Order: sequence, then C-alpha cells, then structure tokens
Amino acid sequence: MKNLKSIFFSLFVITFSLFFVLIIKTNAFSVDTCVDCHKDEKFRVQNKGLFDYYQNWKGSDHDEAGISCQDCHGGDPSKEKKEEAHAKNLSSYNESSMVFYKNISETCGKCHKEVYKYFIESKHYKALKKAGKGPVCITCHGNPLTNVYHTSIVLSTCKSCHNLQTKNHPEVYGVAENILHRLNVCRGLLKWTSRHFDEINKPTRLNKVNALYQNISESWHQFDFTNTDRDSKELLSELRAIFRETHKWKKKNN
Ligand code: HEC
Ligand code: HEC
Ligand code: HEC
Ligand code: HEC
Ligand code: HEC
Repeated sequence: MKNLKSIFFSLFVITFSLFFVLIIKTNAFSVDTCVDCHKDEKFRVQNKGLFDYYQNWKGSDHDEAGISCQDCHGGDPSKEKKEEAHAKNLSSYNESSMVFYKNISETCGKCHKEVYKYFIESKHYKALKKAGKGPVCITCHGNPLTNVYHTSIVLSTCKSCHNLQTKNHPEVYGVAENILHRLNVCRGLLKWTSRHFDEINKPTRLNKVNALYQNISESWHQFDFTNTDRDSKELLSELRAIFRETHKWKKKNN
C-alpha cells in the first residue's frame, strides 16, 4: 500500500515536471498579440503597407534575437484588442511615438548603446535636435532595419543636403560612395570566408577584422570619414588576404 502511494506520488511529480518543461519550451504563457494580429494574411490585401512592416521584421536579425514590435513601438503586447494593445496613438506622426523621426535614434540607442554614443557626437545629431532634419538610423538601415540600404538609396538622401548648390560639403557624396562600395565587397568576402572558417579552425585569424569593423562603426556613425576611409581600405586588404589563404587551404584539403 505504501509502495503504491509512492509510485503515485512519483508519477505525479514526473507529470508535473514534464508539464513545466513543456511550458518553458513552448513559451505557452508568453503572448505577443502585436505579432499575432499583424501577421494576419488578410492585411496582405486589406492594408499592404501595414503587412509589409510585419514581413520586413519576420525572420530578421531582430526577430531572431527576440526583439519584437513593442520594443521599438511601445504598446501592450498582452492585450488582444487593438485599441488596448496600441494603448496610445502609435502613429509615427505622433510626437510622442518612439518612432517619430526625432525620437528614432533614442529608440534604437536603447539597445545599440555604442553606436548611439558615437552618433550623438556628430554634427548631424545636433542639427537633428535643432531643426528636426538630417540622417538618422533608418536613413541607412531599413528593410529590414538590420541591413544597410542599397548604396544608391543611402546616397540619394545625402545628396539632398550635400551638393554643389548648398555648398555643404559637396565632396561627401563621392567619399561616402567609395566607402559604401568597399564595405559591400567586404561583406561578401566575410560571408564567404566565415563559412569555411570553422573547418580551418583558426577563428583568431579574424581578430583584426573584428577590430577594424569596430573602428569603422565608431568613425562612420560619427561621420568622421577620414578615419572610415582609411580603415575600410585596410579592412578590404585584410579580408582579401584571408580570402586567398582560405582559397589555398580549400584547394589543398578538398
Ligand atoms: C487585434 C489586432 C491588432 C493588435 C493586437 C495590434 N495591432 Fe497594431 N495595428 C492593427 C491595425 C488594423 C492597424 C492599422 C491602423 C488601424 O486600424 O488603427 C495597426 C497599426 C499599427 C501601427 C501603425 C500606426 C498606426 O496607428 O496606424 C503600429 C506601429 C502598430 N500597429 C503596432 C502595434 C504594436 C506594437 C502592437 C502590440 C503592442 C499592436 N500593433 C497590436 C492591428 C493590431
Ligand atoms: C527594431 C525596431 C523595430 C521593430 C522591432 C519593429 N519596428 Fe515597426 N517601425 C520601426 C521604425 C523606426 C519605424 C518608422 C520608420 C518607418 O516608417 O519605416 C517603424 C514603422 C512601422 C509602421 C508604420 C508606422 C506609421 O505610423 O506609418 C508600422 C505599421 C510598423 N512599424 C509595424 C511594426 C510591427 C507590426 C512590428 C512587429 C512585427 C514592428 N513594426 C517591429 C521600428 C521597428
Ligand atoms: C530592444 C533592443 C533593440 C532595439 C530597440 C533595436 N535593436 Fe537592433 N539589434 C538588437 C539585437 C539583440 C540585435 C542582434 C544582435 C546584434 O547583432 O547585436 C540587433 C541587430 C541589429 C543590427 C545588425 C547588427 C550586425 O551586427 O549586423 C542593426 C544594423 C540594428 N540592430 C539596427 C537597429 C536599428 C536601426 C534600430 C532602431 C530602429 C534597432 N536596431 C533597435 C537589439 C535592438
Ligand atoms: C549614414 C548611414 C548610417 C546611419 C545614419 C546609421 N548607420 Fe548604422 N551602419 C551603417 C553602415 C554603413 C554600417 C556598416 C555595415 C557593414 O558593412 O557591416 C553600419 C553598422 C551598424 C551596426 C552594426 C555594427 C555595430 O557597431 O554593431 C549597428 C548595430 C548599427 N549600424 C546601428 C545604427 C543605429 C542604432 C543608428 C542610429 C543611431 C545608425 N546605425 C545610423 C550606416 C549607417
Ligand atoms: C538634412 C540635411 C543633411 C542630410 C540629409 C545629410 N547631411 Fe551630412 N551634414 C549636414 C549638416 C548641416 C552638416 C554640418 C555642416 C557643418 O557644420 O560643417 C553635415 C556634415 C556632414 C559631414 C561632415 C562631418 C563633420 O563632422 O565635419 C559628413 C561626412 C556628412 N555630413 C555626411 C553625410 C552623409 C553620408 C549623408 C547621407 C547618409 C548625409 N551627410 C546627409 C546635413 C545633412
């Protein structure tokens, strides 16, 4: 009788633990009504613009890192009704919105602290705070926000202020173009080499690359293009050297 009791007790404990494991694994209790409602296929036809924002986020680095709508927009993701979830007016035209143009750097800067620290040192940031104009994070990062827009899109924004008529640093355009092209080539090289680096098992070989990327992010977001120009050239030649080494290694070992 005593044995039967303890068997029942063990069964109870096991079932209970399994239940908890299941909850943790499936996240059954954490709801995200923003995503649940915004992902509705009906918006594809009813409100294409709205649906595109969801599509751009889906599968992005932010999605994969668990960064969801309310992290950048606010609102209450536990409420099922739109009015309650949106809480206040979430429109980007609303001055208190986290994505109102002037507030965007602070919203992104909550998490990207380093980049934000550099960015607020730039003349652009000062101009933004004064006149509400000038490039912010989404001028260059968009679709999804974790990428850099195509070079031509970025440059067309720069050109609106930096040109021969305004006489405001018209040379900026050409320099920015060169740097962005170089960084595009670097991104391609890095993607290819990283795929083979585990096989070669020399991750430290990328130390210099990582350090250069950090410098570039620092000077670029401050709009200090002298240093960015220099470091991006060095980055490119370093990545080309690694590319050649990896290529040779592959030929020998395959
Ligand atoms: C039950 C459905 C529903 C839920 C829940 C919901 N939304 Fe919306 N959302 C909509 C619809 C529909 C629109 C289109 C504009 C409208 O009808 O108000 C919209 C518009 C928006 C907009 C554009 C700004 C505007 O007001 O037009 C943002 C930003 C937004 N939602 C973010 C969120 C966030 C963040 C959450 C969660 C905290 C959320 N939504 C939850 C349905 C929903
Ligand atoms: C990493 C930050 C970030 C995340 C995460 C994010 N957004 Fe946004 N979203 C923005 C920014 C910045 C803007 C304003 C710039 C623009 O319109 O592109 C914006 C604009 C929007 C707009 C248009 C707002 C308007 O007033 O016209 C909608 C709708 C929207 N987002 C919906 C969503 C939904 C739904 C999610 C989650 C599935 C989401 N966003 C996740 C940053 C984010
Ligand atoms: C709630 C925190 C959070 C907010 C707010 C946020 N991000 Fe992110 N972001 C992350 C995380 C986490 C990652 C993925 C890990 C990483 O690479 O840092 C990421 C990745 C990125 C990347 C890719 C980084 C890389 O190394 O390739 C970019 C670019 C980026 N975010 C830009 C933005 C922009 C622009 C905004 C504002 C519109 C924004 N983020 C708002 C947390 C955030
Ligand atoms: C003028 C264009 C531009 C603006 C404005 C801009 N970025 Fe960037 N950002 C870039 C470029 C170019 C890179 C380098 C991308 C590469 O080649 O990998 C980058 C890289 C990044 C990265 C990855 C590198 C790192 O240091 O983690 C993050 C995160 C990021 N930006 C966030 C932001 C945020 C947040 C803002 C606003 C405060 C912002 N950016 C403003 C163009 C811009
Ligand atoms: C709304 C107008 C505006 C736009 C758009 C704009 N800029 Fe600027 N930029 C300025 C102003 C204003 C200054 C400061 C001029 C000064 O005081 O010397 C400036 C200065 C600069 C400087 C010199 C920085 C320094 O510290 O001396 C660089 C580099 C620069 N911008 C690059 C860019 C790039 C790249 C883009 C496109 C992504 C861009 N700008 C878009 C207005 C703009």
